[in-house]
Amino acid sequence: MNHFISLHDIEPARILALLDQADALKADLKAGRPHPLLPGKTLAMIFSKSSTRTRVSFEVGMYQLGGHALYLNAGDIQLGRGEPIPDTAGVLSRMVDGIMIRTYSHQDVMDLARWGTIPVINGLTDLHHPCQILSDLMTVRERKAGQLQGLRMAYVGDGNNVANSLLHGCAKVGMDIAIATPEGFECDATSIAEAMEDAARSGSRITLTHDPREAVEHADAVYTDTWISMGQEAEKERKMIPFKGFIVDAALMSLARHDAIFLHCLPAYRGYEVSADVIDGSQSAVYDQAENRLHAQKAVLASLLV
Ligand code: CP
Ligand code: NVA
Repeated sequence: MNHFISLHDIEPARILALLDQADALKADLKAGRPHPLLPGKTLAMIFSKSSTRTRVSFEVGMYQLGGHALYLNAGDIQLGRGEPIPDTAGVLSRMVDGIMIRTYSHQDVMDLARWGTIPVINGLTDLHHPCQILSDLMTVRERKAGQLQGLRMAYVGDGNNVANSLLHGCAKVGMDIAIATPEGFECDATSIAEAMEDAARSGSRITLTHDPREAVEHADAVYTDTWISMGQEAEKERKMIPFKGFIVDAALMSLARHDAIFLHCLPAYRGYEVSADVIDGSQSAVYDQAENRLHAQKAVLASLLV
């Protein structure tokens, strides 16, 4: 069974093929060419956390592909009352063609895939956000003349789910990546080791530092994300002091290449991880990233649900 749970599990050639298909689907949509690749197919979308982009891109994507998506708030289905994952997986496998899930525990997504008989897509866990990074690679390719290999990505901020998946994604496609986190907020150790493995094959160079300036120097793209991910709201006060100095502002951006783009998966908190003049400025590609979620998700759906 094919799933889309972690970019580390996916061969570089398949990632590039998904990006090509996302580009083609985007061109179809812009030209008004119908592309009903999934007629009659259904996707169950389980959400234990909030979402704007992920929910809308999957639901609209399924509609545009000629299929249908069901929004299942985890609190409204029996899963939220403790129905076991194997039963949920078994039952959904009898009724729908694929499951997209956004939840806390990455293991829950793995278990859903293990016990079900249909493709499972990770729509974000505490550990990874592969759908986001697929769309980000698509955005970088668009902005940088179709090329990823050899470009330099910088990520500044919390070593969270987005950072872990960004490490995977860059290592797979041969982009150099430098990640600057405060001490104690580094990326997941297993994800780092996995990315190192992939980087050894692709030629990507990985730099892990506590110095945002070192990470951003000569970068082609500068990425940040919220300091407080969903589920970590109680940590807000504790994080303010270590994260001081990790805001992506104009002074930090000026260390990147003059044509560098600014990336953020959104939602963003202006004045915390990014200054308003950067995210709302001319280098920002954040709405492209958000739009590309739709096209990238459709490529994933088309490849898994046919
Ligand atoms: N970037 C992202 O996944 O956004 P949502 O939380 O709105 O889905
Ligand atoms: N790191 C953020 C990403 C939101 C899309 C979170 O997990 O809340």
